[in-house]
Amino acid sequence: MDRRQFLKGGVHLGLLPWVGAAQASSDPTRVLTAQPGVARLADGTDSTTRVWGYDGRVPGPTLRVRQNEWVHARLVNRLTTQTSVHWHGVRIDNAMDGVPGLTQDAVAPGESFDYRFRVPDAGTFWYHAHERSWEQVARGLYGLLIVDEAEPVAVDRDLTFAIDDWRLDDEAQIHEASFGSLHDWAHGGRLGQWVTVNGRPFERFEVRRGQRLRLRVINTANARVFSLDFADLAPQVIALDGQAVAPQRLEGHLQVAPAQRVDLLIDVAQAAGAVLPVAVVTRGDMLPVAHFEVARDETAAVAFEPFAGLPANPLATGLELDAAERVVLVMEGGAMGGMASATLNGEQLSLRELAQRGAVWALNGTVGMTDEPLVSARRGRTVVIDVHNRNRWPHAMHLHGHHFKVVSRDGVEQGGAPWRDTELLQPGESVGLAFVADNPGKWLFHCHMLEHQAAGMKTWLEVT
Ligand code: C2O
Ligand code: CU
Repeated sequence: MDRRQFLKGGVHLGLLPWVGAAQASSDPTRVLTAQPGVARLADGTDSTTRVWGYDGRVPGPTLRVRQNEWVHARLVNRLTTQTSVHWHGVRIDNAMDGVPGLTQDAVAPGESFDYRFRVPDAGTFWYHAHERSWEQVARGLYGLLIVDEAEPVAVDRDLTFAIDDWRLDDEAQIHEASFGSLHDWAHGGRLGQWVTVNGRPFERFEVRRGQRLRLRVINTANARVFSLDFADLAPQVIALDGQAVAPQRLEGHLQVAPAQRVDLLIDVAQAAGAVLPVAVVTRGDMLPVAHFEVARDETAAVAFEPFAGLPANPLATGLELDAAERVVLVMEGGAMGGMASATLNGEQLSLRELAQRGAVWALNGTVGMTDEPLVSARRGRTVVIDVHNRNRWPHAMHLHGHHFKVVSRDGVEQGGAPWRDTELLQPGESVGLAFVADNPGKWLFHCHMLEHQAAGMKTWLEVT
């Protein structure tokens, strides 16, 4: 099948290009049932792993809509505990953001909740539980949300690469005893020893010479920053966190922090029979987690057109830095962080007292949510959060409902940084994160290393 046939055939069966938002909104509701299931996560064993998944699957079903259409998803809770769904990276209507205690009540067992929202941006997004997410995401409650561009992008294959790590016990079951481990919470979070791609211990992609691939990489791990080696696949980076960037050849390894997405463009130039591995790089070792196999056919070598890039999304990009609302956010705590004390629920506690409560990370001296928002901005204002990572750990800071860009790093102004919804900060690093606060509501800002979030690294802001 060549590119032309692909375009003619259309990938969007059932989502015809002339169907506008009004008609799409009458689409039937997609039911997502949060329930127990089983998955084959660990190879070399006969065991399946008991997971929690949407429709019992890991990853959950991939939801696919076209830009500007509506998502109608009914969360049905068949777990024995409450839950919710957050639509990560979507510039969403605040009431649909899925944060218990801030934007909705948690959904009790046996209950359901209807999520209905329009998606303004094309790109790679995901959805995941946002109640005890450090446990629920680790058990498998996540899936992909792919928003297709208004005009189809000229690629032959559109593939996903959802990478995760799992901490399993000797029976290949989710290691439950370590949920809530203070050691994880105060250090680098819950790291697993089993890696899956698209829920499989090893993922195989069969491709053909001459094909142009879009590969949507997404890190769904609780806390692991993946470094990926694509060897001879020679990808170009074309989008970050759902937002287009000028295509750029990947140099070295691809670093993807928890919750981040990277869209890659890969032109398969290799002859039939080639096997092209993708590996996770860990302390100099390479763990192969997937490969691309070039099918044996008669396709001749082809020359690829340069890729023009993805269309930009309608983000408000006009930052008014001089007139910005500025706020400082100091991140402290964790193991070896030297934090002496912090406020928890209005009480000043020593580090030892905090540790007893599993509350070991503070933002501006407070552990967890404050009554007042970090900042309250009028709609349309530019906000700059000057984030100072004053501790020994990297953190993946995520803002709900908006995309931001780094405008300064360690006090030095930056131009040309990409728009993201999750930014990895190294220990000791400071960044200025700027965005146009154009989405009204109450929005979380937190570390996406989910144990850090659980242990206090979260705050919120308000757009009025
Ligand atoms: Cu992907 Cu508040 O989270
Ligand atoms: Cu963190």
